Parts: sequence; structure tokens; C-alpha cells
Amino acid sequence: MSSHVTIQPKILYYGAPVVLLTTENPDGTTNISPISSSWALGEYIILGLGTGSQGLENLRERPGCVINLPDAGMWRQVEALASLTGKDPVPPNKQAIGFRYEKDKFAAGALTRLASETVRPERIAECPLQLEAEVRQIRTPEYAEGFAIVETHVRRVHAEEHMVVRERYVNPQAWNPLIYNFRHYFGLSEELGKTYRSET
Ligand SMILES: Cc1cc2nc3c(=O)[nH]c(=O)nc-3n(C[C@H](O)[C@H](O)[C@H](O)COP(=O)(O)O)c2cc1C
Repeated sequence: MSSHVTIQPKILYYGAPVVLLTTENPDGTTNISPISSSWALGEYIILGLGTGSQGLENLRERPGCVINLPDAGMWRQVEALASLTGKDPVPPNKQAIGFRYEKDKFAAGALTRLASETVRPERIAECPLQLEAEVRQIRTPEYAEGFAIVETHVRRVHAEEHMVVRERYVNPQAWNPLIYNFRHYFGLSEELGKTYRSET
């Protein structure tokens, strides 16, 4: 067994799927925020957002959103959005790391708008999975300044037809999420096996 050392890591992003979160700006247009802090709890998706983001500001006022899931092949389009914010003026901490304001993130990421069915922000057509959701609660923990925990309830799920099995399942062989792994992008490798509860 290899030995371990204790470290003080600058980042702790140990590998999570990228989400392109769409939210509604004050003028009714749609903003896109790339994030990787998310997890599912039944039909609820919990998001971790920085308090300086336009996405969070939008969700505080207008609770509808779409959790768009890009596949691994979309990493360059995600990266094209990485230094952009929908917040004008750009907050000083983001100016310092090279962010600039961008009103039309669809154009910046070469992405296509698709109307949603149950919420106001648009979906991203290129994303194979699109979850329309509504904010249920936003918590700002006093132990961690600068972050918010956003609890959303998924109301409608859109999946590319070729990925769907027996109407209610997503075929994991057909879905290759984009993984953000210590600030590098990865896809998935070959399947290793499945859990005893798998029905596909
Ligand atoms: C791959 C990737 C993952 C990111 N993950 C998060 C995250 O989980 N939470 C977050 O608040 N910001 C995350 N960011 C940074 C946001 O994209 C950034 O805060 C941006 O300003 C959000 O856009 P907005 O200000 O228009 O909402 C991530 C950026 C990239 C490129």
C-alpha cells in the first residue's frame, strides 16, 4: 500500500459532473452558469453556488431554473464560458482572475436556445439531459462565507431519445457526463460493473 501525506489543498474538486445552470436575468433573458457542485437526493437536486454569481442572484428573485447536463464532448463549449459572468459590473474578486461580463452566453458557448415547458429560463439544446426545476430553499451557512446551498425540486426531465430505455430509465452506456476533476475535464472510461439494484 502506498503511504499518505497530509496536504493543504488549494482546491477540493475531486470529480463531479458539470452542470450548465440556466436562470432568468432581470430582463427576462437566460443566463448560463457552469457549475460542478451538485448532487441528487431523490427528485431534489442540491446546488452549491458562490454568492457573487449572477446565477444565484437570479434564483433569489426568480426560482425557475434548468439543470442542463453537457456530455464529455462539450468540454470546449463549457470552457468558453469559464471566464464569463452575467453580472455587470464584474465583482472585483472575479475581475482579478480575468472574468469579463457577457450578456449572451449562448452565443459565447456556441449553444442553442430551447424553450422550457414548466419554467421561464431556456434549456440548452445540445445538452442530452435537461432538468427543469424550481428552487425550494436557499441556505447561506454562517460557517462558510461566500457560498449558498440551493435546494431545487425537479419538475420535468428531458432526455435525448436514444438514451432512454423502457421509457423511465437512462441507459448509462449512452450517457457520458463531463466530469470536472481537480480543474481538468474528463469523460468516463469503460464500465466496471453495476449495483445489485440496477434495472437496466
Ligand atoms: C467547470 C466549472 C465548474 C464550476 N463549478 C462551480 C460551482 O460548483 N459553483 C459555483 O458557484 N461556481 C462554479 N464555477 C464558477 C462559475 O462558473 C462562476 O462563478 C461564474 O461566474 C458563474 O456565472 P454567473 O456569474 O453568470 O452566474 C465553475 C466554473 C467552471 C468552468
